Amino acid sequence: MQVPSYFFIANWKMQRSFTESVQWVEEYADQLASLETKNQIVICPTFPALYPLAQKFDTTPIAIGGQNCSPYEQGAYTGQVSAQSIAQTGSVFCIVGHSEQRILMQETNYEVALQAEQVLKAGLYPIVCVGETEEEHASGLTSSIIEEQLLPILERTKQFEDRLVLIAYEPVWAIGTGKMPAPASIEMVLEQIINLTKKMSPGVQYHLIYGGSVKSDTIESLRPIKGLGGFLIGSASLNFQELKKIVLSFK
Ligand code: PGA
Repeated sequence: MQVPSYFFIANWKMQRSFTESVQWVEEYADQLASLETKNQIVICPTFPALYPLAQKFDTTPIAIGGQNCSPYEQGAYTGQVSAQSIAQTGSVFCIVGHSEQRILMQETNYEVALQAEQVLKAGLYPIVCVGETEEEHASGLTSSIIEEQLLPILERTKQFEDRLVLIAYEPVWAIGTGKMPAPASIEMVLEQIINLTKKMSPGVQYHLIYGGSVKSDTIESLRPIKGLGGFLIGSASLNFQELKKIVLSFK
């Protein structure tokens, strides 16, 4: 893929049902697809909506992504969805390791690394999330948590030379709270991630993004951050006008 300067990843979580996702797209697909941008917009809806949305955007620059996948390839894993199935819906990206999965569903660092591997094996681009909790942040543990989460991922993805892997720095305490780290703190974490990737997995093309309370009126402060190549956007991505403002502010 031609890697753009910025990715705008709309993470719809479980905020929109299948029907609501399809209706939203019926209403806004044309406007979204005709936004004047050289950057990449990715919509990540609930699993059942992947196929109809991928169909709807098939001939447009908009890409579709899953929000999670199984750490396993295939087999007796009731309730799990494989990366291969996600790819077969016409999706091109898949989020793994979101803190809501890590915390609510007890996903481990090892499982997230296996998921990233499955996503790459299925030919998709992974969007791997890492980030510290509020307590860890307050105890000055951010860099050790990032390292702990990232190392197994780099270990499992380093075999995929030249492939694109997005790493999203998402401080858990910034998600859905309206709080954000200072731009200098985000830059420090991104620098740490870049150094780790260069050391551990130099053949893979890593692209760094930020997520957590990104809105049209907060995004401007993130612009100067060195090494930042996009945003994972939760609640602000549910509103078309807000999403449009965000995308168009980074032409
Ligand atoms: P938020 O969510 O933009 O609503 O903070 C971001 C995310 O969870 O990916």
